[in-house]
Amino acid sequence: MSTFISPNSIEELLCKIDITSVISTYVKLKKEGANLKACCPFHQEKTPSFIVFTSSQRYHCFGCQENGNAINFIKKITNSNFTEAVKKLASQFGVQLSYKNECNRDKTNPNKKYYDILDTVMQLYNQQLKTSKAHNARDYLTKRLLSQNVVDQFVLGYAPNDWHFIRSSTELASFKQQDLIEVGLLVDNEEKKIVYDRFRNRLIFPIRNASGRCIGFGARCLVNSKIKYINSPLSPVFSKGKELYGLYESKQANPNLKKLLIVEGYTDVISLHKHGINYAVATLGTAATTEHLSKAFTYVSEIIFCFDGDAAGHKASIKVLETALPIMQDGRQIKFVKLPLGEDPDSFISKRGKDNFLTYLNSNLTSIDQFLFSVSSNNLDLNSLDDKAKFISLIKSYTDKLPFSTFKSLILNRLSQFTGVNIQKSDNFKKKVANNSTNTNFYSQTINRYNRTTKKINIKISLCGYIIKYLLHDPSLVEHIDISIDNLLYYNGQDSYLLLQLLKILRANPKMTPCGLIGYWYNTEYSKYILDLAEQDCENLEGVKELKAILARIKRDIKQKQHKNNFLTTKIEPIDEQCNGEDLNFKTAYRKAFTELRQLKLKK
Ligand code: UTP
Ligand code: MN
Repeated sequence: MSTFISPNSIEELLCKIDITSVISTYVKLKKEGANLKACCPFHQEKTPSFIVFTSSQRYHCFGCQENGNAINFIKKITNSNFTEAVKKLASQFGVQLSYKNECNRDKTNPNKKYYDILDTVMQLYNQQLKTSKAHNARDYLTKRLLSQNVVDQFVLGYAPNDWHFIRSSTELASFKQQDLIEVGLLVDNEEKKIVYDRFRNRLIFPIRNASGRCIGFGARCLVNSKIKYINSPLSPVFSKGKELYGLYESKQANPNLKKLLIVEGYTDVISLHKHGINYAVATLGTAATTEHLSKAFTYVSEIIFCFDGDAAGHKASIKVLETALPIMQDGRQIKFVKLPLGEDPDSFISKRGKDNFLTYLNSNLTSIDQFLFSVSSNNLDLNSLDDKAKFISLIKSYTDKLPFSTFKSLILNRLSQFTGVNIQKSDNFKKKVANNSTNTNFYSQTINRYNRTTKKINIKISLCGYIIKYLLHDPSLVEHIDISIDNLLYYNGQDSYLLLQLLKILRANPKMTPCGLIGYWYNTEYSKYILDLAEQDCENLEGVKELKAILARIKRDIKQKQHKNNFLTTKIEPIDEQCNGEDLNFKTAYRKAFTELRQLKLKK
């Protein structure tokens, strides 16, 4: 019988696995900037052109054009079909697959019973909200302006004021008591030998995983209680420090989810969605963990953290900063926003509405680098040398956590500009150089040679500028740039000079990283322009196509210029030769005119 693995579960599989660990079982990968590189396993080659892009979790071979995600890789390398490849990955990474057709469901899935229990209870609590017993819960929803739409979208519910609601529900009769205890719905008091409902007389917030299965509950008290929220305990399907409340709902509301707004509470998420901010999720009251961030980054490239404007909010944001830095690969963005004192996202948007909330958000966003600078310079007088040194050492303790990336390089550059101390050169850059003594010569020679050059740069990106942009993003692309340096001399495009330098550098030292490259122009008149180019978006796969198209245009240009130049050389220079030095004045005048003509022609 054929099986249909549900798309949700394939998606979850792809979220849970890291393509690097999948591919590295078969191929020896080498780090190359933010990505990884190897000799392609799918065709014969001596120099590596197989790249694994960690941020998009895809691979691409620039030699044979083979590309795809982890499943495509396994399919191809193990010569299996799609279902086999998915199953292989799922078992390797301990991911439970679910099947589209109920009768085809894998009966051996050990967590299936827990999901089934929790999904059933989610519906039961939801139905309870409609009964007469739930009038206090409904009053509470009204008071908090939470409408039926919101109740439906988040499947809000009510746990009745009953110690044995769960055990007395016929819908749950077929499930074992032990399983109900294991998912935290029942509390087992072994001493008193009683088993009772964990959630009683509370408003219920079901927590669903990325594929929409219920994995746990948050439960808010309706009367004043010491404990405002009770959450499901750790279970085989739930771990508070890993889940993002509202992720499924955000994905549902937003097929093209681009960013996530991370807030603290259940009601914040719901209130934001109600007002049309349908990309809000919550970390369930805990500080954001690496798992939270990694999960969020598998869906979006931009995360905005929204914190309360109090001291606790500030402390939490520093914690996030520390958690986030080690996973800040290129292409990932984290921003922070602090709400006015005394407000949480729910109170703010409920009082002032969506537009004001968004205006506030947009004008108070702090990027992770700005935040890094402001946190590190807090309470320091940067005019004092003492404090300046403290500042540098503090900020370095943060930047040391960053992975080697263009982003890190940019931050170190800014730090250098800001403090006047050459951090980059004296730190990572030097470290890299020290690894290889031949490099040292190459670096210092190149720096000395190019540091003094002066040439005006136009910020508008030319054809050569595009190539520079791609090379700064992924220096390994140099393999595809098959223009000779000599030919490039014919090309008068405004960025040809920088491209020429870049090619010289990369051809002499193909292992240069983006950071190292940017370091070359550090403290020269080009540094800002190079940083501007490096900061530009560069979608890798599209990039190669674009790169090839641009190269073709440049080559065409060069050919035309060579043709013109050949014309000048073959038709005019022989006349020059014939003058044979007799009439010196005539010859000088002729040469001058010829040079001007040649320049004019070349400029065209
Ligand atoms: P808050 O105290 O800010 O609550 O806790 P809230 O979300 O604004 O809730 P309302 O507006 O009073 O209804 C933020 C989050 O911390 C977790 C919950 O996830 C809550 O949403 N929390 C809070 C708990 O888990 N337990 C608690 O006792 C309190
Ligand atoms: Mn609140």
